[in-house]
Amino acid sequence: MVTKMWILLLFAQVYSLCSLRQNCVQPPYDCQTPFSVNPPSPPFMENFTAPYACPMFLGQEVCCSQDQNEAMNYKFFLLDETFGHSVGGCDICAANLKNLWCHFTCHPLQSQYVKTGEQKYVPSPVEPTQLVLALLTNFTVTNSLSCEIYQSCQKCPYVTEVSAMQSPQGFLEFQGYEGIPIGLVWTTFYFSDGPDALDLQFLPCSANVTNAYGYQVQPCSCNNCLNQCQANYLVAAPSTLEGIDWIIVGIVYLVVLVFTMTLFFSKYAWLKWRKNKSRREEGNSNGIYQDLALSNLYYE
Ligand SMILES: *[C@@H]1O[C@H](CO)[C@@H](O)[C@H](O)[C@H]1NC(C)=O
Ligand SMILES: *[C@@H]1O[C@H](CO)[C@@H](O)[C@H](O)[C@H]1NC(C)=O
Ligand SMILES: *[C@@H]1O[C@H](CO)[C@@H](O)[C@H](O)[C@H]1NC(C)=O
Repeated sequence: MVTKMWILLLFAQVYSLCSLRQNCVQPPYDCQTPFSVNPPSPPFMENFTAPYACPMFLGQEVCCSQDQNEAMNYKFFLLDETFGHSVGGCDICAANLKNLWCHFTCHPLQSQYVKTGEQKYVPSPVEPTQLVLALLTNFTVTNSLSCEIYQSCQKCPYVTEVSAMQSPQGFLEFQGYEGIPIGLVWTTFYFSDGPDALDLQFLPCSANVTNAYGYQVQPCSCNNCLNQCQANYLVAAPSTLEGIDWIIVGIVYLVVLVFTMTLFFSKYAWLKWRKNKSRREEGNSNGIYQDLALSNLYYE
């Protein structure tokens, strides 16, 4: 019994570890570049003085400190101002992104899917001539996670305007790159369905809710959520159809339709001709001219 518990404890220690930390100085939001925790350290209980940026981790051991909580409150304000209803976007998309970054920063199993490397000077996405000291991280998520979060965000104004964000992978890569000026972290996303990938189920943007993971949200509409548009329903479902040339698809369908109809009518004409032929062979010689005219009509 004791051995079992000890093994369980050991297991928990091996898998529940934090891989990055960030310190900020007062006034808030003046944060230093996050650094790798090497070797990874256990998660901890933290009582935040500011509101919890990640209500889904309330009362749990986490990997995010008081400083990181305050920094996230600020970053999440920016997410709302970029993806939320105040700019014509969808609050559920913004809530899904917060949920994802909360798992990146606070989840007690952080070291399993967030691999931290060195700090490096990289060009800022905002001002490429300016170099920013950022922590390089690899974040592994499942393919279904990337599809779900992309589907909830793909009709937000900011997302539709940027061509790099037109696929689940592109969308997340872009979020990781945007983290350079905001979080001083350059996150490269990796997609895998293995055990080291974070898997989360997200609310679809069509969900009729006012609370998502503890965040206040307004329901989204067809203006910012593809799932809410009745007419687009069939086109919207598989995201792999994105980018298909619909004119070519239309022409192919038309060709197939004409071909099918031609086959159908020529078979009909041929059957009729054969029937008349046998009738003619029985002595009726009028039919063939009529049927030749008929089949010419359908071939034209
Ligand atoms: C947080 O609060 C709980 C209960 O009030 C307390 O037991 C714990 O020691 C506190 N943790 C810290 C880091 O202050
Ligand atoms: C991230 O992944 C790349 C490619 O596998 C690897 O070269 C790099 O060392 C990784 N970085 C970290 C911090 O693990
Ligand atoms: C959304 O939920 C509210 C309250 O639960 C309900 O009154 C409203 O009719 C629902 N809207 C839709 C579009 O289903």
